[in-house]
Amino acid sequence: MSTFIYFLCLSLLTSVSKSMIDSTSLYLSPTILFPDYQNMLISFKIYIYTPPNALSFSSPTESNFFTCLQNSPFVTQNPEEAHLYFVPFSSNLSTRSVARFIRDLRMEFPYWNRTLGADHFYVSCAGLGYESDRNLVELKKNSVQISCFPTTEGRFVPHKDITFPPHAQGNRTAKYLGFVRYNEVKESNLVNELRKDSDFLIESEPSNGMTLVGRLGSSVFCLFEYGADVSGIGEALRFGCVPVMVMDRPMQDLPLMDVIGWQKIAIFVGSRGGVKEVKRVLDRTCKDDECAGRRRLGVVASQHFVWNHMPQPYDSFHMVMYQLWLRRHAIRYARREFV
Ligand SMILES: *[C@@H]1O[C@H](CO)[C@@H](O)[C@H](O)[C@H]1NC(C)=O
Ligand SMILES: *[C@@H]1O[C@H](CO)[C@@H](O)[C@H](O)[C@H]1NC(C)=O
Ligand SMILES: *[C@@H]1O[C@H](CO)[C@@H](O)[C@H](O)[C@H]1NC(C)=O
Repeated sequence: MSTFIYFLCLSLLTSVSKSMIDSTSLYLSPTILFPDYQNMLISFKIYIYTPPNALSFSSPTESNFFTCLQNSPFVTQNPEEAHLYFVPFSSNLSTRSVARFIRDLRMEFPYWNRTLGADHFYVSCAGLGYESDRNLVELKKNSVQISCFPTTEGRFVPHKDITFPPHAQGNRTAKYLGFVRYNEVKESNLVNELRKDSDFLIESEPSNGMTLVGRLGSSVFCLFEYGADVSGIGEALRFGCVPVMVMDRPMQDLPLMDVIGWQKIAIFVGSRGGVKEVKRVLDRTCKDDECAGRRRLGVVASQHFVWNHMPQPYDSFHMVMYQLWLRRHAIRYARREFV
């Protein structure tokens, strides 16, 4: 019986790998990713501390992640076997209360002191800022933070933190401007310039779902301005619209940055050169058939940008888990070194 099950898993694994073979260039380390992902499914264990109060999150992404995690086979009741420890607290919990929570965990359990929080993680859509309290310093500097993309400056530590793939909004409250989705509030000079340029389709009212899908499917590029509404990235990829990320500083907080080669599916351009520069970069990048390859890889990538209520293989939930799995190695000191 067990042999049979093993065989079944193996053949499933090969069929997944096969279907991804011509798309492997999407991934930074394709030969490691697939077997390592399978190892994660088998071995990864997370211990969830009891939250200080009933949990409430500020974004659907955080809630969705937490629900998926709670119901997943990754959760263990035995903290001794855990690779990572989840520190759950509500989005609106005051920093003082978060500090108290960490202090209590430090006193009550041996795990915080072993790594000073490095094998712990938490979710915070907005991210934590710098504080002077020791508990918060360790939480921010050592623990893995999962926050929403894009992050606020100073609230993201690139070598360890992760961002959630954006949640597609059921409700299109954001303005959809042709193939630029943008918040009216923050409208920049660039968007005003784009409006006047007939190469860019600009719309000032939110589109209904059908129109949006049509636009995404028929547009070569979808422009996203960093800092504005980027919830449509996954949808753009899915419908073969190449995301163009408009931003003026290095981007270190892209979702799935450890896993996929963003340069292969998206185009990055600054806003300072205006429409002319945007066009120059797009023309240069999409010579010949290059954009067909980008669109194809983007469609493959889009499977990783889907949030499900029942998690599916390689979806957003599992890819966030995989990024945590990559961060599970922390140096653990014996307790006596602290006494
Ligand atoms: C946080 O939000 C929850 C639910 O919205 C609410 O019940 C709770 O009182 C809030 N806590 C604080 C400290 O504002
Ligand atoms: C962790 O270390 C602190 C000192 O930094 C100590 O007060 C606390 O008792 C330790 N926790 C445990 C569980 O031993
Ligand atoms: C969805 O749209 C309705 C009606 O326009 C609005 O009242 C509601 O606040 C929106 N929900 C979200 C989550 O934006």
